[in-house]
Amino acid sequence: MSRISYVNGAYVRHMDAVVHIDDRGYQFADAVYEGVTVRHGRMVDLEPHLDRLWRSMGELRIAAPMQRGPMRFVFREVIRRNRIENGFLYIQVSRGVARRDHAFPTTPVHSSLVVTLKRLDVDGVIRRAEKGVKAHTEPDIRWGRCDVKSTSLLPNILAKQAAKEKGGFEAVLVDTQGYVTEGSSTNMWIVRKDGVVQTRSTADNILPGITRATLLKIAAELQIKVVEEAFSLDAAKDAAEMFLSSSTGCATPIVELDGHMIGDGTPGPVAKRLVEAYRRYMDA
Ligand code: PDD
Repeated sequence: MSRISYVNGAYVRHMDAVVHIDDRGYQFADAVYEGVTVRHGRMVDLEPHLDRLWRSMGELRIAAPMQRGPMRFVFREVIRRNRIENGFLYIQVSRGVARRDHAFPTTPVHSSLVVTLKRLDVDGVIRRAEKGVKAHTEPDIRWGRCDVKSTSLLPNILAKQAAKEKGGFEAVLVDTQGYVTEGSSTNMWIVRKDGVVQTRSTADNILPGITRATLLKIAAELQIKVVEEAFSLDAAKDAAEMFLSSSTGCATPIVELDGHMIGDGTPGPVAKRLVEAYRRYMDA
């Protein structure tokens, strides 16, 4: 059975799914996106993902291609038609198709909606989180609106590739002041030696991660103290634990950063509790 994707009103075979070459998403990365984990056929944290999509569109003045109700229907339909139980649902909205001009189109255009689904081994993600990963730092060379989930991801791609070539799973982005901002596609956390968990504030030019928000709620339930404050690279290297969070990454411990062991080089107790609680949350 071939994969089915949704493109601007039609469910098509994935290999036949195309957008116009004048689509502003294609030409300018004038587009926003979301990535939602599908676990046992259900979308994890769908409503917060929709909230963030609407916020991203609003910030860039991209018109919503449809209302939330029909959009939820399209997502469910893509999941149903692909018969995928565990996957990654990708949603992209671009400003639409228009004659190339940097400024917004002057005549109204319809925004484009693309929805795809690929298999994701969610159990494999959890197993990886139980083992931990290595990461490498890269300079954060992104723009001042990282709160918007835009498809302009070249700096993220270059950082991830550089980290991968050094044998890392993720790039830890560091700003010019020596502070960790986030990962190439993840939010970053440390557990300080005093046991307090620390993660950068979403007021500080990072993506407000949905998994980040869920982990904050879970941490509160587990009575784990968290402060939302920037931490430096030095603080990360000196931390008891470090972990990343994302829809496709759960709360994965970083056990080695730039070849330097974090804590004792194995997943620590706080990250382990969060991984287990997040797994239960996804399965609930
Ligand atoms: N990335 N920071 C950045 C820069 C991201 O791209 C992402 C998500 C996150 C984590 O956000 P969330 O918990 O909502 O997934 C943080 C997705 C997975 C992606 O680009 O594929």
